Amino acid sequence: MRLADKSAIVTGGAGGIGRATSLAFAAEGARVAVVDVAPGAAEGVADEIRAAGGTAIALTADVSNEADIERVVADTVAAFGGVDVVFNNAGIIRRTTAVETTAEEWDRVFGVNVKGIFLMCKHVVPVMAANGGGSIVNTGSGWGLKGGGQAISYCASKGAVVNMTRALAIDHGPQGIRVNSVNPGDVNTGMLRDEARQLGQEAGSFLAEAADRPLQRMGEPGEIAAAVVWLASDESSYVTGSALVVDGGGIA
Ligand code: NAI
Repeated sequence: MRLADKSAIVTGGAGGIGRATSLAFAAEGARVAVVDVAPGAAEGVADEIRAAGGTAIALTADVSNEADIERVVADTVAAFGGVDVVFNNAGIIRRTTAVETTAEEWDRVFGVNVKGIFLMCKHVVPVMAANGGGSIVNTGSGWGLKGGGQAISYCASKGAVVNMTRALAIDHGPQGIRVNSVNPGDVNTGMLRDEARQLGQEAGSFLAEAADRPLQRMGEPGEIAAAVVWLASDESSYVTGSALVVDGGGIA
């Protein structure tokens, strides 16, 4: 029970990686606030946690909206008494080049992927600091470290996540708050199927592309969750500002 008596917030908690991590947090003893923008979606994951004997609340919120974030933090504190762990994981992707991307699409990708993390940290850091510290894990991407094709706003946003994580770690380390990013390669979730649809490809052939990496397969959400549990827990007590890559060896 590596997260016994901890309270956690997971954004994008109804999606592939978010759901797996919410369940993993609960299995390690954490009380979990499952947050997602899709109406009612977080409730299903909270129900799964409760059915397994854990403690969870479900909150519908858009991470790019400051009032929503303030409500998420306040509701979590009211339900659990504090916040020890945050997994800033909500994210969206647009598979377009700079020429193809509208200014509105750019703003939306940055609003969710970057501003969402800033807003959560703005409102949760004082809560954590008052309680002696905590651990924040932000979802970057392999493409935030090395770039990728036909995803200009996404690659730029994930690069921002990686460096914002370092800046947060510098600012809030003295308050006992560790901040790290987890950077997945291709993971078997709805996002990959959405990408295939945006690119007009068959999901099957799109997913098969991951077979060329050293481990010869894409990742499963639970394999990202396992890394996030470690970063969230005291086992990683001397790790902050790091960019942990979990990608089957895709970044040579
Ligand atoms: P997913 O699409 O299954 O899950 C994303 C979740 O975020 C969804 O439940 C969605 O409703 C939620 N969400 C979207 N916008 C939101 C908003 N404004 N406020 C609150 N929730 C919102 O995708 P997946 O793969 O689980 O993605 C999780 C994170 O992992 C994302 O940040 C993504 O960029 C990142 N990632 C995923 C990779 C993959 O291959 N699946 C690779 C590298 C990074």
